[in-house]
Amino acid sequence: MKDRQNIHGSWANRWIFILAATGSAVGLGNIWKFPYIAGENGGGAFVLVYLLFILAVGVPIMMAEVLVGRRGRQSPINSMREVAIEANHSPKWALVGWMGALAGFLIFSFYSVVAGWVLAYIAGMGNGDFIGMDGDAAGKAFNDLLADPQALLIWHSVFVVLVMTVVMGGVNKGLERATRIMMPALFVLLLVLLGYSMTTGAFGQGFDFLFHFDPSELSWDAVLVALGHSFFTLSLGMGAIMAYGSYMPKKASIGSTVLTIAALDTVVALIAGLAIFPIVFANGMDPGAGPGLMFISLPVAFGQMPGGHIFGFLFFVLVGLAAWSSAISLMEPAVAWMVERFGLGRMPVCIGLGIVVWLLGIAALSSFNFGSEVALFGMNIFDFLDFITANVMLPLGGLFVACFAGWILNKRITKDELAITNPTLYLAWSVAIRYIAPIAVAAIFVLNLIEKLG
Ligand code: PHE
Repeated sequence: MKDRQNIHGSWANRWIFILAATGSAVGLGNIWKFPYIAGENGGGAFVLVYLLFILAVGVPIMMAEVLVGRRGRQSPINSMREVAIEANHSPKWALVGWMGALAGFLIFSFYSVVAGWVLAYIAGMGNGDFIGMDGDAAGKAFNDLLADPQALLIWHSVFVVLVMTVVMGGVNKGLERATRIMMPALFVLLLVLLGYSMTTGAFGQGFDFLFHFDPSELSWDAVLVALGHSFFTLSLGMGAIMAYGSYMPKKASIGSTVLTIAALDTVVALIAGLAIFPIVFANGMDPGAGPGLMFISLPVAFGQMPGGHIFGFLFFVLVGLAAWSSAISLMEPAVAWMVERFGLGRMPVCIGLGIVVWLLGIAALSSFNFGSEVALFGMNIFDFLDFITANVMLPLGGLFVACFAGWILNKRITKDELAITNPTLYLAWSVAIRYIAPIAVAAIFVLNLIEKLG
């Protein structure tokens, strides 16, 4: 029972798993979302809470996901079922896998729209469109793009095709090969940009903004956003990491591997912040500009600086690569499940599911133009998809996985998979997964609900 083989293949070694999972984790969440939500929520205090969640909630849950995936050696839906059965519990635990696969589709639909903007900006920067532009003109350029459903549709379609082409290749010829090329490129680009932002003269101000701790800036809402973001940024709560874990070699240690991934993800988010805010401040722009921060403030800033458009081009290539390697993992759980369930090849599955997410993406992109009137719970479709996944489905999925690993699986299984030899470390994980993570997630949910209703 212990040494099941995965029909999809497995990573060549532990480092490929680390890079692939980091590719999943590092994405629009780190470079687009993290800086703007940190900006909207006051900077330092928000960042501290987010770091706490990564360590106390994210890391233990990521270990749980990898553990279940590697034990089950199948798609998250089937792994949850198999491992639950092994532990003499209900196969209904597979429902957690189902909710995750659904969340993957919903995230993909708005993720692909933003990735489409990124592609449009790669082209625009390459063209030198932003050279010498002021803030108003850049704002107008962004709004014109949003108001043009045709342009959005083209870029969104390109992104869906890019992602599906990789997923179609399978674990070794698709995911692994893409990882080997994209991740080193991503790290190099990030360092180049950090070097560039250090020369802007506002590095200290950007640093201060991110790390200056002022608790009075913190609201309950910000705590929920920080919690949701810690799941989103680590790709937790929807099975992406569980799927990647099912391709992990048996020998590799889960604890140190997961710590490395979480550390890399956090470092990239912080470096992205340190690359973006100094550029924003150096040009006297507003750090709390919201989702447009990366698409309005930054291009202006790049366009004002000598040679800036080259760095701007590199910047958007970086974001595009990050989005690409993440989106792959949004689709993998559903694709793997379809292959297992129906014995189909990856090609027809990817084409079929690609059409589904492509259609969902059209609904998301319509929020900025012909569908702007549609409101769900007071939000447009795009904002609703973001809210319901990051702030509801992912934390809920994470809560279930934590309870599953902490309370349903017996020690024999978790000890065997985690293979932590140090008893104190195993105890720390047990306490985190049984108490800290579930209580933190549940408490924040309830408190938020009370505040929203009250
Ligand atoms: N972690 C990715 C990011 O930060 C998004 C993601 C979420 C990817 C969930 C896979 C699963 O951009």
